[in-house]
Amino acid sequence: MRIAIAGDLHGQWDASDVTLLHRLAPDAVLVVGDLSDGQERIAASLARLELPLACILGNHDAGRDASGRCLRRQIELLGERHCGWALRQLQPPGLAVVGARPGSAGGGFHLSQAVEALWGPMSADDSAQRITSAALAADPALPLVLLAHSGPAGLGSEAQDPCGRDWKPPACDWGDQDLTLAIERIRRHRPVPLVVFGHMHHALKRGRGLRRSFVIDRSGTAYLNSACVPRHGVDQEGRALRHFSWVELVDGRLRRASHRWYHPGGELLYEQLLVEQPLAVPC
Ligand SMILES: [Fe+2]
Repeated sequence: MRIAIAGDLHGQWDASDVTLLHRLAPDAVLVVGDLSDGQERIAASLARLELPLACILGNHDAGRDASGRCLRRQIELLGERHCGWALRQLQPPGLAVVGARPGSAGGGFHLSQAVEALWGPMSADDSAQRITSAALAADPALPLVLLAHSGPAGLGSEAQDPCGRDWKPPACDWGDQDLTLAIERIRRHRPVPLVVFGHMHHALKRGRGLRRSFVIDRSGTAYLNSACVPRHGVDQEGRALRHFSWVELVDGRLRRASHRWYHPGGELLYEQLLVEQPLAVPC
């Protein structure tokens, strides 16, 4: 199963991305949020994609509207594709996607006013339980992917770590504690092969290089930060580039993951391989 993941868009989504995705024809598309600063254009475009898709909205998607109306409008446009605190089973291809806390800005646990306006007050434990309950409602025969805007706490406290704070010292773990708690609880019942998120941009502040965007923990869960920002670029030869993270699952296990930069016409121009694991050999 081939999964294309769009990192934080920040407004960079146009007709060329739609055409490219339809040409690549992945089995599923995951979108990690921060589509824009509250505009409806991209949510409407994602809803029109003729591909199995799941999306979670990020902290920027509330715009400057603390009432939650701006966020709600995009959720309405996305319909069942938005999976914040919810299960979305993509059939085909046979993938269970569970969304973490929508609108997260990382930093442990904090509900924005817009999120609280839509879902009500809740604790980190409440949030973890919502994520866990959604995951345990998934068909156990389907591979499970957790889709979050901010990644979980516990992936390192250096600036270059997948969720490391890089914009002011001291560097620290800026991941979400409710998601960490949920992963621990879910894994008591079923494996979590993959957690996908964004929010913490790959390029570190003050020109300090790139963060680690991929790690596998001791339980075998892979964590992929897909926030290549800006995701539209141009190479030294003047060719337009479009970034997607790309994941291949085989029999529910992560086989391969990479960052890919495509020409809008469909040609794969650059690929950063993150992991390639051998297929399980039957005894
Ligand atoms: Fe964000």
